[in-house]
Amino acid sequence: MRVRVSRLLIFTCRNGQLVCDDPVDHRQFALRPAVWALLPHYTAWREPREADTPVVKQLLEAGLLTEEGSPEHRREETLGPWHTWGTAATYFHLATRTHDDERFVSAAEDTARLREKGAQEPQPEPFKRYGTEPVALPAPDPLPMELGRALRHRRTTRRFAAGHPLSARRLSTLLHWTGGVQHRVDLPGFGVSLLKTSPSGGARHPVEIYPVIRSADGVRPGLYHYAPDIHALEPLREEPPTDEEILHWCGDQSFTARAPVLFLYTAVLERSAWKYPMGRTYRALFADLGHLSQTAYLAGTALELGVFFTAAIRDETVERELDLHWNSEIPLGVSGFGVPEPQEAERQTAMLDGGPAGFSYPRDAWDGLE
Ligand SMILES: Cc1cc2nc3c(=O)[nH]c(=O)nc-3n(C[C@H](O)[C@H](O)[C@H](O)COP(=O)(O)O)c2cc1C
Repeated sequence: MRVRVSRLLIFTCRNGQLVCDDPVDHRQFALRPAVWALLPHYTAWREPREADTPVVKQLLEAGLLTEEGSPEHRREETLGPWHTWGTAATYFHLATRTHDDERFVSAAEDTARLREKGAQEPQPEPFKRYGTEPVALPAPDPLPMELGRALRHRRTTRRFAAGHPLSARRLSTLLHWTGGVQHRVDLPGFGVSLLKTSPSGGARHPVEIYPVIRSADGVRPGLYHYAPDIHALEPLREEPPTDEEILHWCGDQSFTARAPVLFLYTAVLERSAWKYPMGRTYRALFADLGHLSQTAYLAGTALELGVFFTAAIRDETVERELDLHWNSEIPLGVSGFGVPEPQEAERQTAMLDGGPAGFSYPRDAWDGLE
């Protein structure tokens, strides 16, 4: 028999002890120094040494060691895409994967818990304000397209017509329907929750929108924060971002620098963590953004704008630009909006009429393939 340290385990330290974390079974246990000293020998398949036999037996039972050829060994060898995505993603998924016996609190229990918590620690503000002199936006318009048509016409657009700024009115309408406040719910003992056009886990609405205005009539180019409570833009920096900066933020994707307007999306962690103090909440942040991004796609489509979304961003750079720290607010993705290039608009119309289906890549990325 040969044994090895189990590959799905994570070792960390807590309260002066080395702790082994088993994400599969959600178990954590402190390691005795004798066990700790023994593990390096078994980082490769080894016959147990005579003197180790009793401890090896215990460690096999505890799942700290794996026996060659056992079902646990086969599980380690057949991780599927998790093998490619690496230890961190595998660990996160398993550690936040709910089990058959997971206990979900009832709405009544949750309300009681939050009332108690709220009395000690008020919930974080549902929106952020920078306090810079806000730039007013015109009143938003209703969306001029019925949902079925908007869904059918929604496509990712990566080719934008040069020299076509967004009007302030379209920008205002886009922001209103994507991130604007539709209702405020004031629950005594909790404070205010917002309701928007997109659903949000626990109505926490952790996502903030930072519009990058490159070309919009009546709004100075620059980097702004959208303040949904007053439906206005808070300027964040004087100098408008350059093409090089946009490209760097958005993973060097050439089309991103051609969009007249971009929305940088972040999540304010505390807003969600206050209500949901568990790791699984991290998944909900991305689900929240997915809903919001689709709303942005549909609102943009209804305004006859081309829209894209990208998750391929340089988090660290965006954090620095927005003066964020990953312990409180994290970048999630970027949407871009603009009038489509005429050939791109024609291609999308032809596709709707039964023409060849394809993707909208800028010509430079597509050269040689078209
Ligand atoms: C989570 C997510 C991430 C995406 N990231 C990128 C990206 O980094 N670059 C890009 O060009 N498109 C990106 N897209 C757009 C997809 O490529 C696009 O939705 C897909 O090709 C299907 O085309 P459609 O949106 O027209 O249906 C992303 C879409 C989603 C939902």
